[in-house]
Amino acid sequence: MSSSEFLTIAQNVVLQAGRLLLEGYGNVRHIEHKGAIDLVTEFDKRSEELIITSIRKFFPEHSIWAEESGKTNASGEYQWLIDPLDGTTNFAHSFPIFSVSLALIRRNQPLVGVAYDPLRDELFSAERDHGATLNGKPIQVSSQSDLGQALLSTGFPYDVRTNPRNNFEQFENFHRRVQALRRTGSAALDCVWVASGRLDGYWEFEIKPWDIGAGALIVREAGGRVTTSDGNENVLGQEDSIVVSNGILHGQILRVLREGSNAPLP
Ligand code: IPD
Ligand code: CA
Ligand code: CA
Repeated sequence: MSSSEFLTIAQNVVLQAGRLLLEGYGNVRHIEHKGAIDLVTEFDKRSEELIITSIRKFFPEHSIWAEESGKTNASGEYQWLIDPLDGTTNFAHSFPIFSVSLALIRRNQPLVGVAYDPLRDELFSAERDHGATLNGKPIQVSSQSDLGQALLSTGFPYDVRTNPRNNFEQFENFHRRVQALRRTGSAALDCVWVASGRLDGYWEFEIKPWDIGAGALIVREAGGRVTTSDGNENVLGQEDSIVVSNGILHGQILRVLREGSNAPLP
């Protein structure tokens, strides 16, 4: 099967999952706690079940790594990374920013990535070496070259109350050096909003492969750059940080992370 056929299937699957989330939006009844502030709703689970059932039907031999149910068939050559609801905290509060994220990985490289924002009916897609699109139209990253005029986003880990790597210092360091910062609550949307030029960059620590598998490919195919906080291109490996940018700003963002309060001010 060609990667464009994989892409069509992935797009259909996230559109279906997105419709399910729309039905649940504002109607969440069951919320469980995975940690002190880390939630899971019945819609995370139902969306994941829908996605896994579809993938198994088309590709019974493929591996799956899904946020809520973990890994199955781990030795397959192809692996699907599934975040059935990225932005669960927002969703549980009826705060209107969440998405579905699905990526197909082969030998640690994303082949196909899709992220769907059901509230805005925006489907972001990419196929390796074929560019990135939003609802079928090509997208590209911004051309901002001045960090002082850039809009960046970030996120904080669920163990922020106890983890010393809580991103607070970095948040302050960036706030003194950019135009403005946002915390959307959906890592997949942070990535694809960089891909479409709405944001100029995004960084986060303690991120998981299912959060960024699709987004990383979509950003790269839109002309942007994606690395870990120490500049490694392998963002699906052991190191769990991510830095996403339009490419032009990448060095400046890495420098703020590296040099902290000693980095140049605008
Ligand atoms: C979370 C969101 C959030 C990010 C967290 C993720 P979830 O995913 O993407 O923006 O800051 O690191 O875990 O739990 O809503 O799927
Ligand atoms: Ca997530
Ligand atoms: Ca999730």
